[in-house]
This record gives sequence, structure tokens and C-alpha cells, in this order.
Amino acid sequence: MSHNSLLEVSNLRKTFGGFHALDGISFSLDKGEILGLVGPNGSGKTTCINVISGLYRPDGGRVVFAGKNIEANAPHRMASLGINRTFQVPKPFRELTVAENILVVHPSDNRNHIGAPLDFVGLTDLSQRKAGSLTSGQQKLLDLARALANNPSLLLIDELAAGLSPSELDEVAQKLLDLAGLGISLLVVEHLLGFVNQLTQRVIVMNAGKEIFEGTLSSAAKDERVIEVYLGR
Ligand SMILES: Nc1ncnc2c1ncn2[C@@H]1O[C@H](COP(=O)(O)OP(=O)(O)OP(=O)(O)O)[C@@H](O)[C@H]1O
Ligand SMILES: [Mg+2]
Repeated sequence: MSHNSLLEVSNLRKTFGGFHALDGISFSLDKGEILGLVGPNGSGKTTCINVISGLYRPDGGRVVFAGKNIEANAPHRMASLGINRTFQVPKPFRELTVAENILVVHPSDNRNHIGAPLDFVGLTDLSQRKAGSLTSGQQKLLDLARALANNPSLLLIDELAAGLSPSELDEVAQKLLDLAGLGISLLVVEHLLGFVNQLTQRVIVMNAGKEIFEGTLSSAAKDERVIEVYLGR
């Protein structure tokens, strides 16, 4: 592990009634780096984000962020430390407008070093629409804007690509690269490998709560264990 890591996850465990959703996963992430986290359904990717973002307390292991142990903090505390996340299924306040959905997260001034979050994701024109009237792709972009509103230095992204059109996908990939260029670290959970490939070559492949591969996306595609978990059952 690098000494300059922004995030170091070590031997993280999370069980649900005896089921090991995370079974000792470890990885690290540098400032401004993008790491892809891939794996079949149920392999523990979302649980990993849920633990790092404070939604779940781990049953074992460490989350070190900017040199400090943070694994016992609640989500609002994680957000104030600079960790934010998007949700696999966004749940905006449907009766509030797009603009109000951002204001409830960041009331005073919705502009930070990323710029205005709604501008950043391209939703400014829809800011007076009710969030419930947005397409699922637009709700994903709103969720990204919400996550950006409190100026994260670590962004955990859970399947942003699903529901976006091909042109939206290219735009969003470029935006995520821009965020990394600003020094934000990104953990990108994704099934759509073409999207991951636009962002990074560095990936971890999970299966059954464990890392089974770490390396480049192109070498993952040739790895026997990776091929087996995707195709071999
Ligand atoms: N709150 C929970 N209670 C009980 N079991 C859970 C809970 N959250 C996750 N699990 C279980 O843990 C395992 C990992 O789930 P997780 O959602 O992390 O997988 P995933 O890799 O994100 O899958 P997908 O690609 O389908 O989103 C699954 O078997 C899931 O049913
Ligand atoms: Mg998931």
C-alpha cells in the first residue's frame, strides 16, 4: 500500500446473520485516483460502499481515511469528513424540485470548487422540475449532484451507468475523469465494463465478499478465476 493513500481499507468484514457479505476485503486509493470495483451480482460491492460511507458498521477490519480510523462514523459525519456516495437506486425527494433536492444537502451556498453541482451534471435547465418527474438517468445525475454538493474528496459511485443513454454515458465518464483531475478520488462500482474502461485500467474484482483479482481491466478479462466467476457456474 502506498504511504500517500487517501483511503486504505483493510480486511473489512460485514456479516448479515452469519452470511459474509464482506469477507476480508482490502484495497487502497490515492488522491485523484479512480479504482473500478466489479464483480457478479451479490458479490458485496454495494455493501463495501455502504460500510465505507458509514451506512453500515463493519464487523471487522479498518477504514483509514486521510490517516485516521473512521469506520465507526455515521454517514453525516463521513460526509463532513469528505466522503460521499451515490446510490444504486437513487431516492430523491420526489415532491421537491431538483434545485431543492440539492439545497437540503447544502443549504447555504450551492457552489464549491467543483462549481454548482447541478451545472456540473448538466441539470440546471431542469432545476425547477419535481425530482419525481425525472427519468431514471436524470435521477442518477441528480444523485451525483447531491453527492458533489458537500465537496467530497472521496466519491463512492454505485452503478451510475445503468439507465443512462450512450451519449449520457460518454458525458458522465468525462465528468468523472474531470473530478479525478480536480484531485477527487473515486471508487467506481460498475457492471458496464466499457464504462469502467473509459475511466480506469485499475480494477478489483470481487466474488463472495472477497477480492479475487486486482490489476488492469484488460488482464482481468483474461484471468481464469475472473472468467470462472462470470461464466463458470
Ligand atoms: N442489509 C442487508 N441485509 C441482509 N443481506 C444483505 C444486506 N445487504 C446486502 N446483503 C446481502 O449481501 C450480499 C452482497 O450484496 P451487495 O448488495 O453488496 O452485492 P452487490 O455486489 O452490490 O450486487 P449487485 O451487483 O447485484 O448490486 C448479497 O447476498 C445481499 O443479499
Ligand atoms: Mg450493488
